Amino acid sequence: MRLTWLGHACFSLAGSQTILIDPFIPEGDIATEPDIVAVTHAHADHLGIAVDLSKKTVAVNEVAKYLAAKGVPAEPMNLGGTITVDGVRFTMTPALHSSWLEDEGAGFYGGVAAGFVITMDGVSVYHAGDTALFSDMQLIRDLYRPDVALLPIGGRYTMGPEEAMIAARYIGAPLVIPMHYNTFPAIQQNAENFKQIIERTTSMQVAVLAPGESIEISPKGGGK
Ligand code: NI
Ligand code: MN
Repeated sequence: MRLTWLGHACFSLAGSQTILIDPFIPEGDIATEPDIVAVTHAHADHLGIAVDLSKKTVAVNEVAKYLAAKGVPAEPMNLGGTITVDGVRFTMTPALHSSWLEDEGAGFYGGVAAGFVITMDGVSVYHAGDTALFSDMQLIRDLYRPDVALLPIGGRYTMGPEEAMIAARYIGAPLVIPMHYNTFPAIQQNAENFKQIIERTTSMQVAVLAPGESIEISPKGGGK
């Protein structure tokens, strides 16, 4: 599976299908049209261009209802559930965060915020969404054994690097990729420092990607 960070919380996973997670792309465009879109929560920096893409979109009930009303073929689900879409498995995990849907000047509750464990071609990717640290991340390790953990480190709206270091230990994925930082001045962080501390104190590896950069993920083997 080829994983590409498109900046902020947006990743594309290319394998037997192309998955786009949280399609808010700060700079540039998506390289390839996705087959399936996954949205962790309704905030504009995650919902992004999901309506315009109008692909099969996996989201929590409330967001899925909103998307369906816009003509998007939505796949509703909720926390703790698992669905398989075109051979790709999506498990919706809890996230400690809020959610608010904005539409043409109005705003309304967007359901709960979530994360995903996405399994395709034998590789499992955990995208934490926007979240605080919570100790039940250990259940994600026990249940799904992700090969990669995509963790927010920006602080202010999500956990910062210190909390994300503990999250990485709880999740136990051999490879960690930081996200949701440096997009705006309010979430400025030093990802290299985060990498150095994790790699010095654990056996995990951290891949600090530049927006647009890709990494090949092999099952249980980490990245190269
Ligand atoms: Ni958010
Ligand atoms: Mn966010």
